[in-house]
Amino acid sequence: MTATHRFTEQLIAWQKVSGRHDLPWQNTRDAYRIWLSEIMLQQTQVSTVIPYYLRFLERFPTVEALAAAPIEVVIEHWAGLGYYARARNLHRCAQQVATRFGGKFPANADELAELPGIGRSTAAAVAAFAFGQRAAILDGNVKRVLCRQFGIAGFPGQAAIHRQLWALAESLLPAGDIERYTQGLMDLGATLCTRSRPRCGECPVAADCVARREGRQGELPASKPRAAIPERSATFVLLTDGDRLLLERRPPSGLWGGLLVPPEGDPAGVAARFGLTLGEQQALPPFKHTFTHFRLTLEPVLCTVAGTAGLGEPGLEWVDLARAADAGVPAPIRQLIRQVASARR
Ligand code: ADE
Repeated sequence: MTATHRFTEQLIAWQKVSGRHDLPWQNTRDAYRIWLSEIMLQQTQVSTVIPYYLRFLERFPTVEALAAAPIEVVIEHWAGLGYYARARNLHRCAQQVATRFGGKFPANADELAELPGIGRSTAAAVAAFAFGQRAAILDGNVKRVLCRQFGIAGFPGQAAIHRQLWALAESLLPAGDIERYTQGLMDLGATLCTRSRPRCGECPVAADCVARREGRQGELPASKPRAAIPERSATFVLLTDGDRLLLERRPPSGLWGGLLVPPEGDPAGVAARFGLTLGEQQALPPFKHTFTHFRLTLEPVLCTVAGTAGLGEPGLEWVDLARAADAGVPAPIRQLIRQVASARR
């Protein structure tokens, strides 16, 4: 048996004095009530949950009452808490407890975790609060607390970091007083060690906190790494005939659907497509535009038209250069047209 970690001792001492003690699901060993609160609190904060929790218990005072209710009535009482899969799993879980376990929740975390809607952390919370079982929780708040306290820099959603956090959470468990420790972790994450503007001045474990010592509260826990965004490039031909610019309406779906844009493609291809003879050509500086799912390098080529045989295709429009920027073109094209227009003046 290793010595209790300082973090653990300080957290327990702090919970006694400064933690939350009067939430409606505290001061009971009723596993049904504790389980219900933990499910409701999975994605929803305490102040929102409380009125739902009280109404829910009034309508479904026991796990058998919940199991026997039609799912529609359960959903009705859940409405507003969101994530309706939680309500369906809640109902399925109640039915399994009623039928498979004779209305008694299993008294250990591993068995609890087999039930619908109960993950490893929720199972541990119920096992600790209802049965005093020594089991580690690791929800989003706890991950934040641990990443900051121990300076864990990787993204907690990454498998290796996730495993490291679970091992750390296990290693910090006290020999006794698991209820107070578990509640203390929840309280610290919810009230002081908040995502933004943590109140380190009041924190019981600030003295050992790596994030605080290094001023890295804002960067821990690390956020999800952004996937590399694909790069594409496209040539656009700015065909001018005197003071007019040729624009083409894009097909309704796809990039810039329905908007007017200079024809896309290399100048020779565009000329052939429209039966045009090109005059002078001048490559303009390429520039980048970032869309949601990729980054586009636009490579504009400015061309004059020597002959306009074959024009009159549907979707093609000669637009006055002076007003082309405002003719319903996408933002990066507008910028480009403005540059061309102002270079002419
Ligand atoms: N969040 C999740 N479980 C909680 C609990 N038991 N008390 C307060 N907040 C919580």
